Amino acid sequence: MDKLKIGLAGLGRIGKIHLENLSRYFPEAEMMAVMDVSEETAAIAAKYQVQHFYDNFGEMLTKHRLDAVVICSPTDTHADYVEMAATTGLDIFCEKPLDLSLERVKAVLKTVDEHQVKLMLGFNRRFDPEFKKIHDLVQQEAVGDPQIIKITSRDPGPPPVSYIKVSGGLFLDMSIHDFDMARYISGKKVVEVFAAGAVKVDEAIGAAGDIDTALITLIFEDQSMAVIDNSRKAAYGYDQRLEVFGSKGMVQAENKFQSNHKLLTANGLTGDLPLYFFLERYEESYRLEMKAFLDALASGETIPGGGLDGLLAMEIGLAARKSMEENRAVKISEIGIQPKMKDHECI
Ligand SMILES: NC(=O)c1ccc[n+]([C@@H]2O[C@H](COP(=O)([O-])OP(=O)(O)OC[C@H]3O[C@@H](n4cnc5c(N)ncnc54)[C@H](O)[C@@H]3O)[C@@H](O)[C@H]2O)c1
Repeated sequence: MDKLKIGLAGLGRIGKIHLENLSRYFPEAEMMAVMDVSEETAAIAAKYQVQHFYDNFGEMLTKHRLDAVVICSPTDTHADYVEMAATTGLDIFCEKPLDLSLERVKAVLKTVDEHQVKLMLGFNRRFDPEFKKIHDLVQQEAVGDPQIIKITSRDPGPPPVSYIKVSGGLFLDMSIHDFDMARYISGKKVVEVFAAGAVKVDEAIGAAGDIDTALITLIFEDQSMAVIDNSRKAAYGYDQRLEVFGSKGMVQAENKFQSNHKLLTANGLTGDLPLYFFLERYEESYRLEMKAFLDALASGETIPGGGLDGLLAMEIGLAARKSMEENRAVKISEIGIQPKMKDHECI
């Protein structure tokens, strides 16, 4: 079988991870070209033995007969790049979020649909083996009828305020992963959101118009619930936990630690801290999500975590923001755009 010819845009933190994985682990894929606007592009291309590199996305598409692109550039480039790739007939893996405007996301999904290309969004946590195990157990009804999902997602430290200003805010930048996780685990539609937010970590984040601490309650269509707690700074590192409580029992995924030792002395019990941040904690999930993307391209099967999942997570984020601002529960139907649910395309 011919190798899948891939072009990759954006060689920052996440772009380098995907490039490394594509270069090292997937012989069925051939890294044809990379692009970035940075002066380091040539050096990175050389390091990963990618022959062609560009500073213009359109040029990369026209110079090569690619099969797919992997988009890891800043969020404000995603919508344009996805549209350019879709109109060229390429399948697309794009980092989340697709855009910060719901209208723009809808327009992009329409273009993707019209050109019948595949689009997968980087909801990597679905591929984390710990969380996937919980998902599978819930689907097998191991905890019976799920009643409460609890998601803890706290970063080890806030990003720079310059990042916060263009991030779309905590709900769209950070909690969006948790909204997708809640939908993925429950397999149900979220109908209502109640959110509270505060600035408890850094006043500069508040001055930039954002929050750094949040509690969000999601109500699903069957009245089961999810509660999400977010903070931009946990003193002990990256805190990523998940629990599902149901009619027959409860299942939990704990943090992953730098080592699993426990030291017991006369002074008490000590151990290592959790893995520091997403690059370490979710390393395996990035590899597995890329495998899922390539497998779906090879088999023609449905992409897991597609564009509609991105849109639905974004709707929850907008409802959370409205709820916090208006200090009331907000129905998802108030958010305006209800896409036609195509069951095969999402969850
Ligand atoms: N799924 C995840 O876990 C995860 C984690 C981090 C970031 N992200 C997402 O990935 C995207 C990139 O984030 P990052 O942390 O790697 O950022 P980054 O700042 O580390 O890297 C961005 C890269 O894009 C390049 N760039 C800037 N303008 C460009 C353009 N017009 N075209 C192509 N490249 C351009 C920059 O030079 C830089 O190399 C963001 O959308 C972010 O939300 C996802």
